[in-house]
Amino acid sequence: MARVTYIEPDGRAVTLEVATGHSVMSAAMEAGLEGIEAQCGGNMACATCHCYVQDPWLERLPPPGEDERLMLQNVAAERRDNSRLSCQLIVRPELEGLTVEFPERQS
Ligand code: FES
Repeated sequence: MARVTYIEPDGRAVTLEVATGHSVMSAAMEAGLEGIEAQCGGNMACATCHCYVQDPWLERLPPPGEDERLMLQNVAAERRDNSRLSCQLIVRPELEGLTVEFPERQS
C-alpha cells in the first residue's frame, strides 16, 4: 500500500491509497479521475494513460522498457523527460508519496 497523489489537468490534487501490485493507472481509473483514459486497459496499446512523474520519484521508478519507450512516442500531449505510462508504474510501499500529473489531454 502507498499513497499516490494525482494532479488533474485542472490542478486539483487527489490522493489515493493504492494497493501494492496495482498500477498507478488502475487506481486512477477505479477512482474515476478525469485526466486519464487508459483505453486499452493497460495493454500498452493506447498511450492514453500518460502522466508526468514529479520529483523525486522519477529516479526511484524502474526505467521504462523498450515497449513503453516506443509507446511514449504516441502520447497526445507534450512528451517530457518525466513522461511515463501510468499503466506501467506498479505501486509498492517504497513509493509512498508518489506524485504524478496528468497532461491536459490524452487523445
Ligand atoms: Fe493503454 Fe497504458 S492503458 S498504454
